Amino acid sequence: MNALHRLWNQLLEEEQLHYDRNREKNRWRPKLHIAPPFGWLNDPNGLCQYQGIYHVFYQFSPFEVKGGLKFWGHCTSRDLLHWTFEGAPMMPDQPEDCHGVYSGSSLTEDGSMYLYYTGNVKEAGAHDFVHTGRRSSTMLAVSRDGRTLESKEVLMENKDYPSDLTCHVRDPKVWKQEGSYYMIQGARTKEDKGVALLFSSEDKKRWEFLRRFETEEAFGYMWECPDLYELNGRTVLSISPQGVRAEGLKYANLYQSVTCFLEGDFRTGASLGAFRELDGGFDFYAPQTFLAEDGRRIQIAWMGLPDMEEVYASPTAEDGWQHMMTIPRELSIEGGVLCQRPVKELSDWWNCSCSWEGYLERMVEPCCELVLYTRGGSFTILLAEGLKLWYNKEEGIFWMEFTDPVLGAGRTVRGREVSGLRKLRILMDVSSVEVFLNGGRDVFTTRFYPQGYSYSVRLKSEDGRGVYYFHSEKED
Ligand code: FRU
Repeated sequence: MNALHRLWNQLLEEEQLHYDRNREKNRWRPKLHIAPPFGWLNDPNGLCQYQGIYHVFYQFSPFEVKGGLKFWGHCTSRDLLHWTFEGAPMMPDQPEDCHGVYSGSSLTEDGSMYLYYTGNVKEAGAHDFVHTGRRSSTMLAVSRDGRTLESKEVLMENKDYPSDLTCHVRDPKVWKQEGSYYMIQGARTKEDKGVALLFSSEDKKRWEFLRRFETEEAFGYMWECPDLYELNGRTVLSISPQGVRAEGLKYANLYQSVTCFLEGDFRTGASLGAFRELDGGFDFYAPQTFLAEDGRRIQIAWMGLPDMEEVYASPTAEDGWQHMMTIPRELSIEGGVLCQRPVKELSDWWNCSCSWEGYLERMVEPCCELVLYTRGGSFTILLAEGLKLWYNKEEGIFWMEFTDPVLGAGRTVRGREVSGLRKLRILMDVSSVEVFLNGGRDVFTTRFYPQGYSYSVRLKSEDGRGVYYFHSEKED
């Protein structure tokens, strides 16, 4: 442990004490989602199930609620719904990561967790930090328990990446397949084109560049947080591109998160299929997946976006914390479409339910689920008197619109064509709403900030019926 590491530890302990004294400031803290105890959170990192326990690390600025120097925060869970904060084991304490322990992933093998990440360094002087002045090193930290590190080392530096790239190369995702190790990283070329780089290794340490994934025409100037995985016999590439222009209802957020299928072997000739957005709502970025021990492919994303300070207000910053993750979602491919559903543990968690037909008007728990089944008819749902979700069967578009600007804190309206909408699941968790349409073929994710803890639903449906689920401590 070096001196800087010790200093960070001391400061973190002080921050934790300060937080413990201010616990009442928890108006909008979620019950089932990952949020930082204090400070700022962004991308999920190092997702894994290790010796039976789920580990989630995340981009964490413990001392700056509006974002700043990045650590990896760490939390664990046995059910993917209730999380325990475990501290910030990955700290900027090396010459190669002193300006941020940036995003990455984990590989678990032989009783160790291999944590791959980008060490970020911004050099002094006048730079644009795109073409000059930034060092992005691929780093490896090894841990036996996720809480303490045994070692940290540099595996690759900018000079080891293809020479047509800018300084922006980052976010290694590593996995093992057929006896070899693979790594995919996001990058920006000198011609302002987003690309993903594929490397392979036989020993987890020495990496060889294999190929790049790219589109013919640029699809944004930078691809962040790539992921590549096998699912139901297909190979999926997931990327978070920056610089994609809005196109009708598509790509309405500042930055995107999309997937496509790769046709052919990803190591050699595979070409990229059409991109599809993972989410149609306001807050979704940098998704990552991992394989649970029972074989499920689970995805978690940041329920937020970078560079949105001027657009969305973030009232929890006043309470000393900012941002949260999406609910962990099980992925599947059905009818050629990538579907996302909340992990099955969620359905087991609710212990109270109440059915209704045609309409529903009531106060609800701040953490609850509403399910609506229709025969394809129109419906309107108003949540907390200011978030309207509606579908008109003639138009065939599902809309999410804030009619109360305070509730949406700067969010306005999003929509997406959905043919034959028959099932809708709404997961509300104090300051977030995730809407899963038709078994998760389309998903809309947003933060919202009901004032005075007043959670209500007004729902009218032509031909629908449904169930309201919640958890009551009394029933346990
Ligand atoms: C995405 C991202 C990553 C980077 C990290 C830094 O939100 O910009 O590319 O590693 O955040 O926090």
